[in-house]
Amino acid sequence: MIPLSHPTVDRLLAIMDQKHHWAWPSFTRPGLSRAQLLVHFRHEYATYVRDFPVLLARVLGQVPDLIDVRRALAENIYEEQTGGLSKSAPHPELFLRMMEGLGFARAQFEDKAIEPELHASARTYRDWLRTKSIEAPWQAATALLTIFVEGSVNERSELAGTYTRAKGDAAVMRHPLVVHYGCPPEAMHLVRAHGDVEGGHRGDAWRMVLDHTHDDAVAKTVVDTCMDGLARWHRYRDGVAELMGLVRDTATTAPPPVVASASR
Ligand SMILES: [Fe+2]
Repeated sequence: MIPLSHPTVDRLLAIMDQKHHWAWPSFTRPGLSRAQLLVHFRHEYATYVRDFPVLLARVLGQVPDLIDVRRALAENIYEEQTGGLSKSAPHPELFLRMMEGLGFARAQFEDKAIEPELHASARTYRDWLRTKSIEAPWQAATALLTIFVEGSVNERSELAGTYTRAKGDAAVMRHPLVVHYGCPPEAMHLVRAHGDVEGGHRGDAWRMVLDHTHDDAVAKTVVDTCMDGLARWHRYRDGVAELMGLVRDTATTAPPPVVASASR
């Protein structure tokens, strides 16, 4: 069990609570054009989906002789880069199959096609993730990639046990891409793979960081790094929304994120 009252957990969850972007509801209902979907998915792919296993490997590269952390990261990398645990395929490959299910071609996701189309905020976020993944302390890099990037706004309720992510057919059949955008269920193996293995990886993510963060200065850097990640992620998502032509309705969406101070 992860202690929700732990001060570092408390601060990190306050950050995760804000990993919600005003444009997010647009993706859970019908109404987006293929061109808008392409902008969104190209950005997600180029920013962290394609290179997520490599980002984790960069983190592993700076972890000292701690067998539990190295093992958990290696297991996560194995699944992300091979699909070996979920008996599927590399997650970036599963993502491309989902894109094909939406009617897009693989060529549209090649570097030379995406790179000129990337919003500057996406490039900044991606480059920053690459830099941080190999920067000390390793606890901050681990928290950034496995808690912040891999986690979601549901983190608090997932840890509290009040939210269980949908699995298997249930997850696929109610997914917005299937319900509203005609993606065939057989192209949604990525969602199945996440339902199969990601639950375990959530617990690992928190344990790796908490079991080895006893120093106040390290704890502060862990929280500050994730706070920085949140701000950059919001600017990145603002950039994607801008390219998609989505306009924020300030009357019905919450104000920009407010991040609690990490100082004691
Ligand atoms: Fe994944």
